[in-house]
Amino acid sequence: MELGTADTVERVLISESELQAKVAELANQISRDYEGKIPLLVGILKGAFVFLSDLIRYVNIPVHVDFMQVSSYGSGTESSGIVKILKDLDISVEGRHVIVVEDIVDTGVTMQHLLELLSARKPASLAVCTLLDKKERRLVDVNLNYVGFEIPNAFVVGYGLDYAEYYRNLPFIGIPYKKVYE
Ligand code: PRP
Repeated sequence: MELGTADTVERVLISESELQAKVAELANQISRDYEGKIPLLVGILKGAFVFLSDLIRYVNIPVHVDFMQVSSYGSGTESSGIVKILKDLDISVEGRHVIVVEDIVDTGVTMQHLLELLSARKPASLAVCTLLDKKERRLVDVNLNYVGFEIPNAFVVGYGLDYAEYYRNLPFIGIPYKKVYE
């Protein structure tokens, strides 16, 4: 068994077809809600890049895309509670309808910091679209406008989510064998 391969995943939590159906559904909602506008979708690197790239291909209104990278986890599985900007946006959010796109909201610390930072830049509106919501781990309250799946408190990888940079390429969300990361 090689780290980062599907063989080291003990259980598939969300299959590729379930993911694609949900991403299309979220994209349809966004297309309806933002009709007549050009939302700026802000992907939070690295995890959200797979979700965002699928999401925008199901959206049928014009959108702009930009990225930010923040870091709170290091290479482990627990949040440090410290949010650092590693890469800022290129496009100004002032007066824009901004949708922050995340792969997962866990403690909520990252999203809370991002929302504070972005709202200070005076967007016309600010919303959050997250593929996964690990609600039971929440430490701070954050408002999530679009949620793909609420998931249990398990360590998940795939579809952009990593363990030590591995697994981002899996087309499904799964739980790796414990011996992989312990
Ligand atoms: C993950 C995820 C969020 C954050 C959520 O990123 O993409 O940004 O953690 O955790 P929180 O709700 O507890 O703050 P990670 O730091 O693993 O970086 P990556 O996306 O580059 O893998």
